[in-house]
Amino acid sequence: MMEDLSLHILDIVENAVAADATRITVTINENERRNLLTVRISDNGRGMSKKDARRALDPFFTTKGKRTGLGLPLLAQAAEHCGGGAVLTTVPNQGTKVAARFRYRHIDRPPLTAMVATITALVFGHPEIDFRYGHRVNGLVFRFASREFLGDPRSTPCLCPSIFRAAKKNLQTGLKKIGRT
Ligand SMILES: Nc1ncnc2c1ncn2[C@@H]1O[C@H](COP(=O)(O)OP(=O)(O)OP(=O)(O)O)[C@@H](O)[C@H]1O
Ligand SMILES: [Mg+2]
Repeated sequence: MMEDLSLHILDIVENAVAADATRITVTINENERRNLLTVRISDNGRGMSKKDARRALDPFFTTKGKRTGLGLPLLAQAAEHCGGGAVLTTVPNQGTKVAARFRYRHIDRPPLTAMVATITALVFGHPEIDFRYGHRVNGLVFRFASREFLGDPRSTPCLCPSIFRAAKKNLQTGLKKIGRT
């Protein structure tokens, strides 16, 4: 079991990067009243064939030589263990969506504590990707878009420290406003 949900998110987003996505969206919805936490990751990458999609949630299924093939199954297992589950929707040459649901108050639900570090790592690790992140906590919403900091992903992004600091600050302040971190 991974310690923090953000580690799963990192993993699933890396799948999208490996699938040559140019746009990746992470959406988190925490709803205490419904005792539900959902994580959705969608990309416009190459998608999977029907055959691969059927096996993608199986442990050790990988199309990448040296990888272990555990990213998706570990997320699915964690979600199922917490009274939810994971669903994969994929269309070849169009993209992939991964949605995982957790019982919010399940005793084993991994916490979601490292989102600032996770999102900054993803955005600045892949500045060429149009990266969007939306986080809702009991109706309060925070939205983040990498292009607001890095400009149009098709032009050469400026990776100077001041931009990194501005993005980090924006994430910290935004998440604080919705009651996170
Ligand atoms: N977003 C995606 N777009 C296209 N194919 C995907 C996507 N996510 C997963 N896949 C396919 O499903 C396979 C299994 O993914 P999974 O994350 O479980 O393992 P992996 O990425 O191969 O290895 P690991 O995550 O353990 O390093 C991948 O090898 C890839 O072929
Ligand atoms: Mg993976």
